[in-house]
Amino acid sequence: MADNIPSFKAADLVVELSSTLKPKPDVLSFGSAFSDHMLTIEWSESEGWKAPVIKPFGNLSLHPASPSLHYAIQLFEGLKAYRGVDNKVRLFRPMLNMKRMATSAKRACLPAFDQLELLECIRRLVEIDQDWVPNLERASLYIRPTFIGTEQCLGLKKPANALLYVIMCQVGSYFDGEPKSVSIWADPKYTRAWRGGTGDCKMGGNYGCSLSAQYEAVSHGCQQTLWLYGEDHQITEAGTMNVFLHWINEDGEEELATPPLDGIILPGVTRQSILELTRKWGEIKVTERYLTMSQLCSALKQQRVKEMFGSGTASMVCPIGHIVYQGEDLHLPCQDKDSLLTSRIAKELTDIQYGRTPSDWTILMEQQ
Ligand code: COI
Repeated sequence: MADNIPSFKAADLVVELSSTLKPKPDVLSFGSAFSDHMLTIEWSESEGWKAPVIKPFGNLSLHPASPSLHYAIQLFEGLKAYRGVDNKVRLFRPMLNMKRMATSAKRACLPAFDQLELLECIRRLVEIDQDWVPNLERASLYIRPTFIGTEQCLGLKKPANALLYVIMCQVGSYFDGEPKSVSIWADPKYTRAWRGGTGDCKMGGNYGCSLSAQYEAVSHGCQQTLWLYGEDHQITEAGTMNVFLHWINEDGEEELATPPLDGIILPGVTRQSILELTRKWGEIKVTERYLTMSQLCSALKQQRVKEMFGSGTASMVCPIGHIVYQGEDLHLPCQDKDSLLTSRIAKELTDIQYGRTPSDWTILMEQQ
């Protein structure tokens, strides 16, 4: 066992297959067509981890006092299985999700587990439901590991019972209608995360509390919120995405910049992959640095902005077309599609995910 901590083991997996398989949906919306099976693993303080179970997809039975329902003692992950051009199913950098999940669990006071053992259980689940991995470019099977406190007690404390489960659903484009770019509304009155908080962990509370700002963005004619931070209106994230700026910086250098992982930024797998990919190209300066709205506004006035985009597992790479900020509609340049860095990054990533480019970033599933 890699981490040498008490953990469940994939070798103990109990598999109970569903006797009836559900029809697959014709239209791929985001997050509502769930596969036939799920993985559940129970933990208790007194007995530790139980054997992992793969069983037919179904509802959970939770005590109404469960701390996940009252105090948001919970976390989740998001990763995808892709069906490649060779018909083989691949996971994209899943160990990065396992690692982030372990970090979130520590912060949520949920028990530790062996990351490799969880990955092996997920691999088995994907293999069992591999017919659910769509055979369509731009579509995939979204895998949602979730970890919740389940103790039957209203006291605010480390839960003595917890449940780790994994569900999967077919997904297409995250944004309805596959927009060419998204519009975002930037208002410093809302904060997604703050120093010392949990912005760098993937916890439901970070997302649930962002929703009213998201709807306010919609009421201003925008699709997403640009999350600003501090007196100087630092640009941090956009909606549920990390954010990148491709520009000519203050020193006249072409630069791809994204805010640093200083505790308020989610360490996105797509973010990390974009940084590694573009650094490997060695063509432009790639930095993790602070970016403020005033720097962006001056760069826009001086026509130094090439493009801006968000990145995430669900949304992949998504160009930003407009920002509404302090009553102004800032228009971001939209160049010829093929000349954009966004398109090149998206192509290189999808080439890896869909098996057109061999890469050690993917893990192959066994075909049944
Ligand atoms: C993801 O990109 O995987 C996310 O967590 C976004 C989610 C709110 C759908």
